[in-house]
Amino acid sequence: MRHVTPCFGITAVLLALVCLDARAADSPANPASASQRHPDRANRFAMRGVVSKEGAGGGRPAAPGATEAPAGFDETTNGFLPQGPAFESLTKESVVPLRSFNDDRFVFEQVESEADGVGPVYNGRSCAECHQNVVTGNGSQVTVQRTGRLEGRTFFESIGGSLIHSRAVDPSIVEHVADTDGVRTFRISTSGLGAGFVETIANGTLLAIRDAQPAQVRGLAVVVPVLEAGGQARIGRFGWKSQHASLESFAGDAYVNEMGITNPLFPEENTSSGVYVGFGTAFDLVAEPEDDGEDMVAFADFLRSTKAPPRGPRTSDVDAGERAFAEAGCVACHVAAITTAPAGTIVNGGEFTVPEALGNKIIHPYGDFLLHDIGTGDGIPLLPTAEMANTARMFRTAPLWGLRTRNRLMHDGLSFTLDEAIQRHRGQAQRSVDAWNRLAPDRKRQGIAFLGSL
Ligand code: HEC
Ligand code: HEC
Repeated sequence: MRHVTPCFGITAVLLALVCLDARAADSPANPASASQRHPDRANRFAMRGVVSKEGAGGGRPAAPGATEAPAGFDETTNGFLPQGPAFESLTKESVVPLRSFNDDRFVFEQVESEADGVGPVYNGRSCAECHQNVVTGNGSQVTVQRTGRLEGRTFFESIGGSLIHSRAVDPSIVEHVADTDGVRTFRISTSGLGAGFVETIANGTLLAIRDAQPAQVRGLAVVVPVLEAGGQARIGRFGWKSQHASLESFAGDAYVNEMGITNPLFPEENTSSGVYVGFGTAFDLVAEPEDDGEDMVAFADFLRSTKAPPRGPRTSDVDAGERAFAEAGCVACHVAAITTAPAGTIVNGGEFTVPEALGNKIIHPYGDFLLHDIGTGDGIPLLPTAEMANTARMFRTAPLWGLRTRNRLMHDGLSFTLDEAIQRHRGQAQRSVDAWNRLAPDRKRQGIAFLGSL
């Protein structure tokens, strides 16, 4: 299913990769029923429906009337939520989740404790612990560990899941990697700035970008369930494997998997390498769900309200460098401009209507949110299923907006310089890196100046 071929109109296909059915209707307003919102574990990741185009799609280069998305490292709202009371005036007692950008930023930055449900195993105590650099919501140098093993050609996650938690509330339950789990990787924290614009890119737009890519660099659009919409199928776009399509789904996932706080979308506690350590044991004092869903939505709404990463100073070298970047074919994957769906478009499987603040906005992510095999695959698929097996070799094109805030590059953070990161591109990016390496030294210098302006 690399370059999408057959389409199957499915209902309740478990974790299948689907493609856009050409006959797919526009997004039906399909609010999930209460029972769909809290499905049991077996059902939770069931995927339903075909992928809707979410409107006319094709929002590239620019739909009529599209305007530039606001950009800035200035901790002010893009207009999705009001700015709210002065941030410095807020306290744990006075904060009102969901009220404003500043309230939700406070919740995103709030350091939580065992009494709030942190752990038993976890990686951090606040979202901002890993998503703060220059401003809250961006990425950071923090990496997490994922491991598993191959039996023949089949991938198995480590017992208890591929994410190895590096902290715990008690030394006896800290997870350790098994000697036999030879597939090992780090994944560095990515940026959530401007994520509301990414969430409101129509499926049809991502598919149009894919379809316009030359065959040798064509990306894979993965289809994942929108958990708050009862598993409605949508094109993934968040995370290193584009493993989520909505910010609420990602926030619920991060809350339980990075912080150990269960929530309506993820009601089960993580184990310690397969051993139950949740409520009822000595390691966990708070019953599930530890968050009633309010924090989860506050995190999502905070990210939805953030501005896109702004460009640094533009000089003649920077502009010449952008032309060199385009000439070397980097733009095939690192797409320079995408337009979000118009206000009023229903996305996220019926759960989110694109608001004025996010609709018809031009962003410059320098990414396509599709997966590619550039030879850096970490061996860990999006999910340990046959359908997702090929994603083990792939990563989402790293969006290059905000690149100048990062000094540890690529998924594992193990490339120290831009040149090192570029030279790791192989596979689908081989021609492009060859073209880059053939640039005259002065043009290469300009290309690096351009990257340094992002
Ligand atoms: C221990 C560090 C850590 C903590 C704590 C953490 N994250 Fe993350 N976050 C990561 C890493 C690592 C990734 C990339 C993971 C991947 O894709 O494999 C990520 C990715 C994301 C993304 C995807 C952005 C994109 O498109 O690439 C979102 C959204 C996000 N986190 C939200 C949150 C929220 C909300 C919280 C708090 C509940 C949180 N994170 C807490 C480390 C962390
Ligand atoms: C076939 C698609 C493709 C092409 C073409 C491509 N890239 Fe990438 N790029 C990726 C992917 C995928 C990643 C993430 C890989 C990883 O982390 O293992 C990436 C990562 C990067 C990064 C690291 C960013 C970060 O935040 O860590 C830089 C810098 C970069 N690319 C620059 C370039 C340049 C310059 C070119 C042209 C010479 C180029 N890329 C061509 C797909 C592509």
